[in-house]
Amino acid sequence: MVKRFRFGAPIETEAVLEKGAQQDKQQLSLVQTADGLEYEMPDDMIVYGLGENTRGINKRGWIYVSNCTDNPHHNEGTRSLYGAHNFLLLSGEGQQLGLFIDTPAKVTFDIGYSRYNLLRITAGQDYDLYVIEGSTPAQVVQEFRQLIGRSYIPPKWAFGYGQSRWSYLSSDEVREVVRGHREKGLPLDSVYLDIDYMERYKDFTVDREQFADFEQLVSEMKQEHIHLVPIIDAGVKVEEGYDVYEEGEKEGYFCKDEEGNDFIVGVWPGRCCFPDMLNDKARAWFGNKYKVLLDKGIDGFWNDMNEPAVFYSEKRLKKVFEKLQDYQGQNLDVNTFFEFQALAAGVSNNEEDYRSFYHNYRGEKIRHDKVHNLFGYYMTRSASEAFERLEPEKRILMYSRSSYIGMHRYAGIWQGDNLSWWSHLLMNLKMMPSLNMCGFLYTGADIGGFGGDATEDLVIRWLSFGVFTPLLRNHAARGTRQQEAYRFPRTNLFQNVLTARYCMLPYLYSEFMKAALRSTMMFSPLGFVYPSDQTARQVEDQLFVGENIMIAPVYEQNASGRTVYFPETMKLLRFHDGGVLEGSVYEKGWAYVEMPLGDVCVFIRDGYLLPLAKGGSHVAEVDFEDLRLYTCGSDVKSYEYYMDDGETKDYSLDKYIRILKAE
Ligand code: GLC
Repeated sequence: MVKRFRFGAPIETEAVLEKGAQQDKQQLSLVQTADGLEYEMPDDMIVYGLGENTRGINKRGWIYVSNCTDNPHHNEGTRSLYGAHNFLLLSGEGQQLGLFIDTPAKVTFDIGYSRYNLLRITAGQDYDLYVIEGSTPAQVVQEFRQLIGRSYIPPKWAFGYGQSRWSYLSSDEVREVVRGHREKGLPLDSVYLDIDYMERYKDFTVDREQFADFEQLVSEMKQEHIHLVPIIDAGVKVEEGYDVYEEGEKEGYFCKDEEGNDFIVGVWPGRCCFPDMLNDKARAWFGNKYKVLLDKGIDGFWNDMNEPAVFYSEKRLKKVFEKLQDYQGQNLDVNTFFEFQALAAGVSNNEEDYRSFYHNYRGEKIRHDKVHNLFGYYMTRSASEAFERLEPEKRILMYSRSSYIGMHRYAGIWQGDNLSWWSHLLMNLKMMPSLNMCGFLYTGADIGGFGGDATEDLVIRWLSFGVFTPLLRNHAARGTRQQEAYRFPRTNLFQNVLTARYCMLPYLYSEFMKAALRSTMMFSPLGFVYPSDQTARQVEDQLFVGENIMIAPVYEQNASGRTVYFPETMKLLRFHDGGVLEGSVYEKGWAYVEMPLGDVCVFIRDGYLLPLAKGGSHVAEVDFEDLRLYTCGSDVKSYEYYMDDGETKDYSLDKYIRILKAE
């Protein structure tokens, strides 16, 4: 059951489809405070949710802030990441409570940080609170997901492996990456074009020096079943003669400063303007620009820097330069040195800058900080709505860096700029169920880590987990070690891991589609599947993928196996050396399982089956009908296998589910 409570006069976000009637506050099970809500949490309560954020699957014991932030150095101490996903699920003995705080401004969630039993939500004066009661965690999530609407569905090819780097600098470099994979028998479906494919970082342009034959490249790649996926950035370069800038300027589509002039910020190309994504007309205009690339045969995009990230605002930069003069010639001591250092560091993503520009949202002038968390959502929506107009029948790949709940209907997300750290592999795992709760199903992290140098074993282990995530993309920052699979010596291990992905595609795609069409979880914490098993509820490094299999990835360097908790009898299936081996059957309890580098291990639940295909070098080569069914136990349930064409929008559970039965 869903109840909505209104506080003040919240700004519309369009996160929820049907709001429903407002309830009387007498019925509120939380305590209303001057600027939010409080709730006493019993000791054993688990707090799930918050989508893209740091720390555990159980969010208890930390303080999180929903405030979309570009932070490529994030770690355990971080409070905000790229998305703002204000959904919590309080799961206790006999009580399951979902909370969604709907406001586009900043929200703070103190989940037992100040006091262990206190949940304190600080959301200001204006927000809608949705309270969802249910009998199981899964049921609460399903009700919430029905409230916010069906998740985005990408084309089937987007479940293949993608290779990215900031940046492949020319057409020939792109060809070389494809060759590298094909020659070593490594499956591949997409190559990403980062900012350098553009002419001086101008959105919707192509650098004709390095990518002179762009159209030819796109079609040549199509022949090889490779999709090129260009990046689009939020900032539009200020440049006379650049049509996008000139049109936006003429029509008044850019965000304005206090005085009504275009608000100028610095991003990749230097001076930029932000299109006012919240203004309906500007949004439609910006969305239509994607046609430039669609017309060249492009069918996938990633939207970036849309928190929006600000290197500097022109005004701030001026002030900082002036102030820096004061330090010249001084003996910089402990105080002045830190002040001096903070001056330069503070130019980026400065809160004051977010308070100094304006949108025209639904006919009203609104200061950016009040709607900050909607910017990435509305940028991505602009593209998605344009695709709907321009290519109504076709699925187009789209994912964004920044997001708010509601954007899940329009696109997926990737999990931002992580680092080549083992702890970030584990964080990737923990985010998957949290994101699913908030409607984000098409998601994954930069495999191998974006910042920092990756080691061969990290990339292999990360891929061995990543092969389960819908978005499977290896991406790295400029200046870091090259981490394409074919560059490392033990190519056979990479080949085995990626082959596992292509063999599992029928199951993964089927589970994804069922989760999207039924509003259920694709990645579940063990506590969702076994809510009364107190040990299962505490496991933070294993997940269910769909209903039939459990995974327990290795996320420590030099480990050749790990301890696994089995909440019931399960059978190990091991992808090894290009083949599939049926392993031991484990009884309920803890066990140490050998997992050598390069093996992908899955655990099939007792009484369930896992359908596997033979694999392929790209998605189109996988035969989704030629399946072998692997089982655990004797009394095996039949499997609801969902399969559609993967290209059109003709999705239907009724039409496309078939029953698979083990012999
Ligand atoms: C941002 C993105 C990253 C990209 C880089 C250059 O940091 O998050 O994925 O490679 O910008 O475009």
